[in-house]
Amino acid sequence: MPDIHSYSNPQESRVRHVELDLAVSFAEKKLRGAATLFLEPAGKTLVLDTRDLNIQRVNGATTGFTLGPRDKFLGSPLTIELAPGTRSVMVEYETSPEASGLQWLEPPQTAGKRHPLLFSQSQAIHARSWIPIQDSPGVRVTYSARIHAPVPLTALMSAHIVRPGHFHLPQPVPPYLIALAVGDLQFQAISKRCGIWADPTVVKDAAREFEDVEKMVQAAEGLYGPYRWGRYDLLVLPPSFPFGGMENPCLTFATPTVIAGDRSLVSLVAHELAHSWSGNLVTNATWRDFWLNEGFTTYIERRIQEAIYGRRRSEMEFAIEQGELEKEMKELPPGDQKLAIDLTGRDPDDGMTQVPYVKGALLLRKLEEKYGRAKFDAWLRSYFDKFAFQSITSEQFVEHLHATFTEENVDGWLHQPGLPPDAPRVTYDFETAPRRTWATQEWLHWMRELPANISAAQMGSLDREWDFTHTGNSEIAAQWLLMAIRANYEPAWPRLEQFLITVGRRKFVKPLFDEMVKTPEGKARAQAIYKKARPGYHPITQATVDGILK
Ligand code: BES
Ligand code: ZN
Repeated sequence: MPDIHSYSNPQESRVRHVELDLAVSFAEKKLRGAATLFLEPAGKTLVLDTRDLNIQRVNGATTGFTLGPRDKFLGSPLTIELAPGTRSVMVEYETSPEASGLQWLEPPQTAGKRHPLLFSQSQAIHARSWIPIQDSPGVRVTYSARIHAPVPLTALMSAHIVRPGHFHLPQPVPPYLIALAVGDLQFQAISKRCGIWADPTVVKDAAREFEDVEKMVQAAEGLYGPYRWGRYDLLVLPPSFPFGGMENPCLTFATPTVIAGDRSLVSLVAHELAHSWSGNLVTNATWRDFWLNEGFTTYIERRIQEAIYGRRRSEMEFAIEQGELEKEMKELPPGDQKLAIDLTGRDPDDGMTQVPYVKGALLLRKLEEKYGRAKFDAWLRSYFDKFAFQSITSEQFVEHLHATFTEENVDGWLHQPGLPPDAPRVTYDFETAPRRTWATQEWLHWMRELPANISAAQMGSLDREWDFTHTGNSEIAAQWLLMAIRANYEPAWPRLEQFLITVGRRKFVKPLFDEMVKTPEGKARAQAIYKKARPGYHPITQATVDGILK
């Protein structure tokens, strides 16, 4: 199936292995060096994806290269005519300071405040902004890299560390899983194969929060077969990281906003770990089938949580997600409520709604309930074994489903909006446990149930009792600040500004700006805050908020 989000031509010439040699310049906000691409097959022409790359030279080409016009979403195709017999090309290039897949942080934006930090975020189609590559999830590559980072900073990648600055990933992965981070990073081991990388001032708290990670790997292995990537480490980034987590192989990237102190938000780790099977081992061939990555992963996340923390907690998490899906679906156009979604003319990041995640997970949950856990688990394991290290389509999923469950019909799930009549309902009764013992989700549930027209005076009395305005829990802070905007609760304004200047996680930032722009005074406040906050945001978050304020 052709990938509408890539200009590349893997049918004619396919990149199989990438060798990177890159120097990191914080002063110029640039990566500079070369990517050598090994091809099989190698035809007459090689087309690569690029975005805002400054291409200096291509070795191995006959007639040089041409860079096509820049498309807003797709970037510019780099076309290289290959001399007969050519098996590899070396592209010398540098990135732009505005590369959409890189964020360059100044020392004050880090926890330690003494050193700068760089990290990449390649999913969905941002790898092309820092590597000239066939940037399609259907093109799997192995890679090795040499990263020249300034002393005393540490470079990390989504790969095995051969020795400091030298990396190798022998398993073929789609380009969106190539990742790099450079900063003042310290390591703390959790088990033989798991550990935490983070700013030296954060690493202890992070290691305590994520102490169960080895247990999680073992639980997942028990269900779906061996963990195939060697190490499983986590890199805790500064709060400007635009997502909750990113499943970069060997090294999940995570937001520090899940460090709540009580491990109540560690399902994020279960989620990113689950991608080691659903996503990294078996990948959507194009972004139309993103649900194969995220729906399977959300389902497995629940299974890992159940194995470690029990059925009650995993059902609570599932019920909350189902509520969020139903709420979001009311506002989504019908086309975006299908699992196999049409992204023609759009940025694939637009497909990141609750639909692929939760509707996808509900489909697997339905199959589990219908055929029984034993049979369904065996089928899921066979799915991973059959498609390991491949990129597949929804049609291939259906075909493999029919091999075992011959009568099953999932067309409605894939191609119709809304939830089909056979969708399971996950329910959970929030107990009236004493509030002092509540975990994050219980607080959030209680806050969301408060009347929508709560007054500023009532907010004030809640604040005197619980001091929500100054909570260190980002989930609770974000919910409270949303309510503060609605109730025009002025004592929260300094905290609102401070929160939006430090935290760049899109899930928190977007609803707060959406809510502020609903009134003229709010819009003025939003603009004033954004002026200060924007320089610290990741390009992805900047694009989102630019859209709200334009
Ligand atoms: N792979 C996604 C993040 C992603 C998706 C980045 C699409 C870019 C484009 C990651 O696994 C994810 O789903 N993260 C979630 C957290 C998760 C617990 C639902 C997030 O960041 O919100
Ligand atoms: Zn995910």
